[in-house]
Parts: sequence; structure tokens; C-alpha cells
Amino acid sequence: MAKERIALYPGSFDPTTLGHLDIIRRGAKLVDRLVVGLAMNTGKSPMFTLEERTEMVAYEVEKISKEVGTIIEVHSFRGLLMHYAEQIGAQVIFRGLRAVTDFDYEFQMVGMNARLNSEIEVAFLMASEKHQFIASRLVKEIGLMGGNVRPFLTPRIAERLATRCREKGGIQR
Ligand code: PNS
Repeated sequence: MAKERIALYPGSFDPTTLGHLDIIRRGAKLVDRLVVGLAMNTGKSPMFTLEERTEMVAYEVEKISKEVGTIIEVHSFRGLLMHYAEQIGAQVIFRGLRAVTDFDYEFQMVGMNARLNSEIEVAFLMASEKHQFIASRLVKEIGLMGGNVRPFLTPRIAERLATRCREKGGIQR
């Protein structure tokens, strides 16, 4: 029997956007099992707790998993990405690539990670042009300043973001 193809799609997912979900859908078609890995320590101060971020993405991927017919699991990890990839037996790491501005950061990460384990490949996927520009950081900024975040998020996540923005005393319109 052929070896199970396992991919890891890591990130902060604070919160999960339509861009992330598009990458998950595309990535899931390429492998047998896709693990969405939420990093516990990214050096950023997240708007949502790890539990909230995990629950939000897990809810959304359930539909994608059924649609595509691939097992999609959502887990969190502490420590190095490459150590976690080794632990779950992933042969490939998926990252979404948006514009050239992403390139420098991703280029550096690939280089450093390859020194840690050169057997695990990194594959870059591009979201559809309608979702390419979406960044969680900007979506949070729009939400906090009273803008409409619905074009960038699922209805459920948009609702959660709007609530969190209100709790944080963001501008309301
Ligand atoms: O969604 P993000 O914030 O762009 O994801 C960044 C992430 C989580 C992939 C990156 O911060 C990461 O790999 N963190 C784990 C710690 C690690 O392995 N650091 C060394 C990177 S060379």
C-alpha cells in the first residue's frame, strides 16, 4: 500500500480568513491527510486565544473535509515547526503565498527550516485572486476601526471578530 501523504499547514490563524480556507481546500486535494497546525508561540499577541482559534478553524474545515474527501485535523503545537512536522510524519508543509511582500519572510523561513530537516518539502499555494490580498492583521484592523469584515471571513468568524472588537472597545458604526 502506498505511504499516506501527510501535509502540515501551519500558521497563527488569528483569525482564519477566507484566504486560509481556500488554501486548506486546495491543499487537501493534494494529500491524504492535512494537519492544520496552530503555533502556540509566534511572538505575536493574538486577538483570539489558542482555544478560540482552534475551535473556529476546526468548525470551518469540517465542511471542506467532507467536500474534498480528505482527512483534515486541527491541532496546536509548541516549539519548532520542523520538529512538529517530523512528529506527525508530514512529508510536506503548505504555506500560502500572496504577494511579493510575503516572499522575503517565506524565503528566509524555508532556508532556515531546510537546515533543520531538508527531507521535508515546503510547497507554496496561492489562494484564488479574490482572496489573495486578505491578511488576518488587516482584517483585525478593519474590524477594530468599525469596518465591514464580512468580505474576508465566514459569517461565523465575522460575527466572532465583531464581538471581540466590541469587547476591545473598537470603533462601532
Ligand atoms: O500565520 P503565520 O503567523 O505567518 O505563521 C508563522 C508560523 C507559525 C508558521 C511560524 O511562526 C513558525 O513556524 N513558528 C514555529 C516556530 C519555528 O519553527 N520557528 C523557526 C522558523 S524558521
